[in-house]
Amino acid sequence: MTILDIVTLPHELLRMKTEPVTQFGDELQQLIDDMIETMREAPGVGLAAPQIGRSLRLAVVETLPDYDEQGEEIEGTRDLYVIANPEVVWTSRQEVAGIEGCLSIPGYLGEVFRPEEIRIKAQDRYGRSFKLRLHDWDARIFLHEIDHLNGVLYIDRLTSKENFWTEEEYVAMMEEERGSEVAK
Ligand code: NI
Repeated sequence: MTILDIVTLPHELLRMKTEPVTQFGDELQQLIDDMIETMREAPGVGLAAPQIGRSLRLAVVETLPDYDEQGEEIEGTRDLYVIANPEVVWTSRQEVAGIEGCLSIPGYLGEVFRPEEIRIKAQDRYGRSFKLRLHDWDARIFLHEIDHLNGVLYIDRLTSKENFWTEEEYVAMMEEERGSEVAK
């Protein structure tokens, strides 16, 4: 497997609509394996094809694990998904704000509203159709990756333009908040 280069802003591919996946042969299998490896190495929870320089409606997503009482990751509680030609078929009206970052916009974080619950359909790595119903954080990751396939980035969806920080600013802000809670 190969670790692929992740393109960053202002790379033009990040702003383009991608092409449908039509060939599910060996070349695609290799690409998917490389994308999974690249996502894990980064590390990230999702990676879309334009981020590694390919104009394809293809992304990989790995959900967050469950943790035991000691805070250790419980093996086997991460779910890995390959989505080819995904479509969002339903979104809840209820939206939730959450913090997002992107491997193509390194060093920054922003607050984004996303639907609390979604339903999507997609094809797996072999072209078989499947449907998924996703909530909260999982829904957020999938929507972020599907946005990439349409040239949309989370910075286009900020809750306000002030709610965009460098990682250092965000960490400092969280520490300050924690401090003020203690002071109460
Ligand atoms: Ni991203």
